[in-house]
Amino acid sequence: MSGREIEKRDRLNAALRALHGCFSITAPQMLDIAEKFHEAMLCGLVGRKGPLKMIPSFFGMPTGEESGVFLSVDFGGTNVRVSLIKLLGHGKITVLKKLSTFLKDPGGSYDYTSSAATGRELFCFLAGQIAGLVGADATVPLGLTFSFPTKMYALDKAVLIGWTKEFKTRMTAGRDINILLHDALQEQGLRGIKPVAVINDTVGTLLTAAYGDPHADIGSICGTGHNTCYFEPLPPQHRPMIINIESGNFDGLPVNDFDRELDLKSEKPGEQVLEKMVSGRYLGELMRLVVLDLAHKGCLFQGKDSDMPGFPYQTNSLNAEHMSLMLGDKTTGLAGIAAWLKGSAGIQEPLLLELGALQTIASLLTARAARLVASTCAGVLRRLDPLLKNPHTIAVDGSLYGKMTGFAPRLRAALDEILLDRAGQVTLKPTRDGSGMGAAIAAAMAVTSETIR
Ligand code: GLC
Repeated sequence: MSGREIEKRDRLNAALRALHGCFSITAPQMLDIAEKFHEAMLCGLVGRKGPLKMIPSFFGMPTGEESGVFLSVDFGGTNVRVSLIKLLGHGKITVLKKLSTFLKDPGGSYDYTSSAATGRELFCFLAGQIAGLVGADATVPLGLTFSFPTKMYALDKAVLIGWTKEFKTRMTAGRDINILLHDALQEQGLRGIKPVAVINDTVGTLLTAAYGDPHADIGSICGTGHNTCYFEPLPPQHRPMIINIESGNFDGLPVNDFDRELDLKSEKPGEQVLEKMVSGRYLGELMRLVVLDLAHKGCLFQGKDSDMPGFPYQTNSLNAEHMSLMLGDKTTGLAGIAAWLKGSAGIQEPLLLELGALQTIASLLTARAARLVASTCAGVLRRLDPLLKNPHTIAVDGSLYGKMTGFAPRLRAALDEILLDRAGQVTLKPTRDGSGMGAAIAAAMAVTSETIR
């Protein structure tokens, strides 16, 4: 190694050590976050102003015996999934047909997530997808999973408080989502389809797990966005029901300069602080900001012109999938990361230490995300059962949990670190497509009104 290379390596290693300090969350910090989260939950439950909205869902727990055929619409990220689902009772569910479409055409011909579209147009598009799956003459109750903060007034009455996850569709906030859907169905001539239930995706995930598991009482989404719900036995103003915490808005967290920069550049600065630190929509951009800082300090990619398009100079040029690929690269020369850099950033011959640095940064951010989510889950458990006398199942869905290399084991390990000898009482249950199936269960519960176990 030449003198210059040694100097570069030392500078990079020092920068990585500093990043380690910036992004690590210690065990005492996790306990502190859990406690603060628990306090914020109590505050939200009694309607005091705070970061957690604690939204009543009006749904209790399913019995596992709900049955029949229902239509489910799962809307919460960049694609919408419409499914015809048969509930068989005894906790068994079959998907009869399904269809998934992008709300934002990758080819650029439409984008229902942007301010170019209105809520009416968005829901007409959804109704068109429903017609495509079941035909115009179908007669079936419909459950809608709508994964944004909505104020619930009844099982089928949900008003959008405001968009999250960088959605910008106009004339939707403040509107009753089920009425928008109902009107769009009428407009398309789908008169036999009755929208009877609206739920959050966390609620759908919990309902799906609880359909077959009596210990399930927490549902969490770790995907494009992040949020958690739980079954609250004693809500002050309501009967026992599932509460959508909207935990992505939690803000009692140790943020660093990169978090602040990401927040300032986001659609809604100051909001969704936790979500911006842990979810797929933001992790890639957060990592890009870190890498950009190292590049500006001359620690990485010297020689790459900052006017060149692509990573790391272009906003959103890195996403959570790329991070997962980096974390999963087990080759000795980190050939996968090198190939990605060549294709996405035009960086021809990165040094092995630069590739290793990318892997380290991706790992720091993923570990922090898992530890923050675990801390908030511990906060919820503190509310439900402080001494963990009973078993609990946390149902988890979402692309980060399902696909991000290392995230799921780190979440488990962090929970074990917090809960110590009681950790065995808590099961993390991957609940694939819980948000979609949950909409069908919610529809079944709404038509029979068997909403409370
Ligand atoms: C965002 C939404 C929330 C949803 C979560 C996961 O945080 O505000 O309602 O549950 O994303 O999709």
